[in-house]
Amino acid sequence: MSKPIIAACEPLEVDLIAGKNYAWCACGRSKKQPFCDGSHKQCDIKPVVFKADKTEKVWLCMCKHTSNHPFCDDTHNTLKDDNT
Ligand code: FES
Repeated sequence: MSKPIIAACEPLEVDLIAGKNYAWCACGRSKKQPFCDGSHKQCDIKPVVFKADKTEKVWLCMCKHTSNHPFCDDTHNTLKDDNT
């Protein structure tokens, strides 16, 4: 099974729009972080598709190791820079 690549060791603040669908990149390979650009086809990780409940600012996970995807849960603070 593929491991996600750490896109960044800090979350990214994003403005979500109520009712809009988003595809959060779970593999870390997208060039359009934090969202999927189809680059996951190189591995067996799929994006997380979700609909925004309301219009709001949120912090989306960029380390791709969160347990609360697509949102940051501070797991990035426990990771090393060697992509583990
Ligand atoms: S490019 Fe990462 S999940 Fe699609």
